[in-house]
Amino acid sequence: MRTTQKQMENYNGPEKPQRRTLLNRLWALLGLLACIELSWLTGSILKSRKTKTDSADGENYIDAGRIESFKPGDVKAIPEGLLYVSRLDDGSFIALSRTCTHLGCAIPWNEENQKFVCPCHGSMFDRTGVVINPPAIRPLDYFPVRIENGLIRVNTDKPIKREIFEPTQVTQV
Ligand code: FES
Repeated sequence: MRTTQKQMENYNGPEKPQRRTLLNRLWALLGLLACIELSWLTGSILKSRKTKTDSADGENYIDAGRIESFKPGDVKAIPEGLLYVSRLDDGSFIALSRTCTHLGCAIPWNEENQKFVCPCHGSMFDRTGVVINPPAIRPLDYFPVRIENGLIRVNTDKPIKREIFEPTQVTQV
């Protein structure tokens, strides 16, 4: 069917105001969903960062699991503490900050290469947190570990800075 001259004159184009209103509502809805998501995420993070307080000394600990859940050589992320627990070959444990000592990027454990490799500038650290490739010059900070009734408990009050690895930094079973 052909469009007549009259129909063309009456045609005002697509209904822009209605479409704009619809788009505005859609954006508002997306914004609202983003706000809900953000508050849920924030709540989850805050909730997950809650640690258990040891009644004996009033310090904060995170339970990292039972001894038997770690084989010698295992490195496990403990996201709620922003740290890793590493079981060394002799069976001892060390808890390492996941913050790179170069410029502070979060550093992942590379299971395949058995080392921490910083995605920012390529620093590498071994399972004890010692630098094996610069630009970082200092080992990863560590947290004191306590073993109670077969449970590995990490004191998260504050990471301890160090210049070298020393055997006193690990906890024997
Ligand atoms: S922040 Fe990790 S190498 Fe620079």
